[in-house]
Amino acid sequence: MSTIPLILDVDTGVDDAVAILYALANPQFEILGISTVAGNQTLDKTTHNTLAVLEYLGRPEIPVAAGAAAPWMQPLHTAPQVHGENGLGNVELPAPTIRPQPEDAVGCMRRWIESCDRPVTIAAVGPLTNIALLLKSCPNLKSRIERIAIMGGGAFRGNASPVSEFNIYVDPEAARMVFASGVPLLMCGLDVTMKAYATKEDIDAFAAIGNRAGQMCADIFRFYYDFHMSGVRGKLPGCAIHDAVPVMALIHPELFHGEDAYVEVDLDGVYTRGCTAADFRDRGRLADKNTHVILDLDRETFIRQLQDAAARLC
Ligand code: RIB
Ligand code: CA
Repeated sequence: MSTIPLILDVDTGVDDAVAILYALANPQFEILGISTVAGNQTLDKTTHNTLAVLEYLGRPEIPVAAGAAAPWMQPLHTAPQVHGENGLGNVELPAPTIRPQPEDAVGCMRRWIESCDRPVTIAAVGPLTNIALLLKSCPNLKSRIERIAIMGGGAFRGNASPVSEFNIYVDPEAARMVFASGVPLLMCGLDVTMKAYATKEDIDAFAAIGNRAGQMCADIFRFYYDFHMSGVRGKLPGCAIHDAVPVMALIHPELFHGEDAYVEVDLDGVYTRGCTAADFRDRGRLADKNTHVILDLDRETFIRQLQDAAARLC
């Protein structure tokens, strides 16, 4: 089986932890490393959480590199109301004994890509600050990036604002650069990720798996589920497992439906800053369509995939 060399860029985060779990449990991925960025919580917490999840799930050998502690042009905006003060639903996993790489995220990503004998896929499920810095500082690496699968944006909706999704909202300048980079993009925005929800029954089924991975999911979902049920973002049928969508779409595209579009990020709108403006019209110049935008999924199979992945781990 030919594997996909993968770099995960995360702001762990409850759903980031599930994305990591899913990547660990699928041998189709050769995980080169994980880079961390500030977003759901501050960089020290997102890095700590990433290390803790890897060690807890029995994969301490996977290198972790800490990246940007702040967005390019504005102060950091975190989401403690969604992911808890510690960023992992206020669940305290055993303190990690493993440490991040001495080199920063951009340096490590550059090394991981240059030393890989095949083009590398990046799954970016936090603000795009690290990715933009990589593309800006090493433009020559673009040809060695197969594609970037992004959890971010929304063709027809937002969450951090009416029209801007959190990962884009935190660092719109970085997102603008990534969408304009020319690297093939897979955008898994709120259009699909808000349909990728776990119900109370789904969460109980994670606990029933009876292993560490299943119990970790059930535990970290608790706070996260309560936020989604609070009505702050309207009555939802469950909690959205946003970040697992791009990782799963890389190996199970048959579970998802999407369309090509030209997407660019608004920076200057008073009400639309951070909006991912998606044009699906065929303007006769396919070269304009820079992104495959995922719009729908088979939710029940998505959840079963996650539960089966957890069951395969410790
Ligand atoms: O809007 C959802 C995204 O923002 C997810 O990646 C979540 O982890 C947060 O980072
Ligand atoms: Ca995230």
